[in-house]
Amino acid sequence: MIDQITIDRIIDAANIVDVVSEYVTLRRAGANYKGLCPFHDDKTPSFHVSPAKGICKCFACGEGGNAVHFIMKMEQLGYFDAIKFLGKKYGIEVEEKDITPEQRIQLNEREAMFNTNEWASLYYHKILKENPDGVAIGMAYFRSRGFRDDIIEKFRLGFSLDQYEALSKAAKAEGYNPDYLLKTGLCFRKDNGLLTDRYRGRVMFPWFNVSGKVVAFGGRVLDSRTKGVSQKYINSPESNIYNKGRELYGIYQAKKQIAKDDRVYMVEGYTDVISMHQCGIENVVANSGTALTEAQIRLLHRYTNNITLLYDGDEAGIHAALRGTDMLLAEGMNVKILLLPDGDDPDSFARKHNATEFRLYVEEHQTDFIIFKTNLLLKDAGRDPLKRAQLTQSIVYSISVIPDEILRAAYVHECAELLQQDEALLLREIAKNKQAALEQLKKQQTIEQDRQRRLEENKKDGENKNDENNEKNENDGKNEKEDSPTPPVTSEQVASASAQSAVPSRYHGIERMIMTLIVRYGEQPVNIESDNIGEQNAEHAERLVKYAYSDLTNDGITLCTPIYNKMLNEAIQHVEDENFVCSRFFLNNPDIEISREAANLMTERYQLAKNNQMTVPEETMVAEYITHLLLDYKFMVIDDELKQCQQRMNDPLLCQEAMKQYMELSEIRRELAHRLGDRIFIQ
Ligand code: CTP
Ligand code: MN
Repeated sequence: MIDQITIDRIIDAANIVDVVSEYVTLRRAGANYKGLCPFHDDKTPSFHVSPAKGICKCFACGEGGNAVHFIMKMEQLGYFDAIKFLGKKYGIEVEEKDITPEQRIQLNEREAMFNTNEWASLYYHKILKENPDGVAIGMAYFRSRGFRDDIIEKFRLGFSLDQYEALSKAAKAEGYNPDYLLKTGLCFRKDNGLLTDRYRGRVMFPWFNVSGKVVAFGGRVLDSRTKGVSQKYINSPESNIYNKGRELYGIYQAKKQIAKDDRVYMVEGYTDVISMHQCGIENVVANSGTALTEAQIRLLHRYTNNITLLYDGDEAGIHAALRGTDMLLAEGMNVKILLLPDGDDPDSFARKHNATEFRLYVEEHQTDFIIFKTNLLLKDAGRDPLKRAQLTQSIVYSISVIPDEILRAAYVHECAELLQQDEALLLREIAKNKQAALEQLKKQQTIEQDRQRRLEENKKDGENKNDENNEKNENDGKNEKEDSPTPPVTSEQVASASAQSAVPSRYHGIERMIMTLIVRYGEQPVNIESDNIGEQNAEHAERLVKYAYSDLTNDGITLCTPIYNKMLNEAIQHVEDENFVCSRFFLNNPDIEISREAANLMTERYQLAKNNQMTVPEETMVAEYITHLLLDYKFMVIDDELKQCQQRMNDPLLCQEAMKQYMELSEIRRELAHRLGDRIFIQ
């Protein structure tokens, strides 16, 4: 689809630090960078980025790869779409004519829904600015709220005409599939079967996800029509691309500033976000009046540890502030809270103040959440002992979920004073809570482990079935055994030996080490010394990957891990290419399975260094390592062969032949052992 040269150019241009920084706040750590992993619930920075290698990796969950893999995972894109995504970022043209009409049809459903939403957001936006009704009604409304043009652009605000089929007709005219109008919720079908616009006569707020794709809409009824209309806002239904609990309104426009300020303001509504941007405060998102979910908190946690909740100073605001905040604490966020002066919400407050005043007000009035809660409840409880006991429980709970020990201790100290309680007592209570939480966690972990194990088993079952289907492997192996009494050490036998058990081949580990060397140093010439086994005699230089390949194939061995086998064969075909560099060849490989595995191997911490004499620079040791690994490998194969022989010796029919074979194998084994010397590489 896209030619390799363009792919290479894009991958070369894609600076991994640059790409990852769009999603993760990175801090320098020596030559590398670290941040919170965006792929799992990470509380300490486990996500490492190596600009030198062009790869990233989470040392906790294992996710990672090169820039393309990162984007694939992050944006839920296929390989070529991820390449295009990066091409766009770096201004490298990817010829679109490559996409055939058939391929366009095959664009997966999510993609089609994103496209439809993107189109619709631009359609509503254009109506707002150019259609006479749009200008007279929609734009007039925004003006009455004081929204400036640049802000209307930034949030791509729009207007939906008060007609039943305005959008659906326009969409059809431009070739958009009605299915996706329904699936995105832009339209619905009436009982009479007619496709009907959902947001008639409303001003439109598109929701952009973190990477700027339109996942949903909110449509607000105009004030003049509020009477008799049951719902102020109509929002998109949940869909394949919109999970309300995972999105935050404004995250796309806010993410850079959140990372820069190392703080996010959390508000309730669309208009709060927009007015704050207009007044110059851009690190703000809204959760649309619902309690925060874990997914939303994690999304924010990628950019900052610090959150300030902004609420109206009324009763409802205060209650909203208390709701769901423990979850923020549990995720390791530092939570502050600010109640605005009575009667103001962030929207109205922002319209009365400029950014400096706003910030100053926040600086002066935001309170640490635990302290806020303690004081609030204390005031509520008065002298009522029962209430005071409940209050202590509640505070203790909030503190106990905080992951940071030092912070916890600080809070205990402070709250003990505020509550006029014994610090030791609070500590004991907290320990109790933590114990209970730990047990809960263990339970969950066991459940999760069980689930994972079942998944793995299912997968393995599937793989074994594939092996069975691959009749070539099996049959060839059997024929060979029958035809020739001499036991060539064959891959088929290795494969069948390993297929006997359900556990992954025991060769996997050593094959991984071999491939690690190949990925890193495959193009490097290694001097092959003459030796007694085989027909080599003079010393000569060969590329490492070729050496490994011929060494294995000479003994009739192919690697039993399918991906490694594939990688080795691919590399052999290209090893003579001009400027061949193994790491590059594998990392940029259009076969995503190959490039991903290469990235894994590149980030693997070196396990070969068990030998303490490793003072020589790695590179000069490489030839020796690979030689040892290959010998080691053969050693394992022979041992397996010997075991099988022994089994056959129990069978009177096979005994004689097996015995002969056993002797021959033992002889080879002795020679190998001699060459292997002290076996330092695997235990
Ligand atoms: N909301 C909603 N559906 C409603 C009411 C509210 O989805 N029927 C969500 C919206 O995301 C809204 C937020 O809750 O932005 C906060 O509600 P509210 O404060 O009533 O709305 P504002 O954003 O303040 O809107 P406006 O200032 O235009 O009244
Ligand atoms: Mn409001």
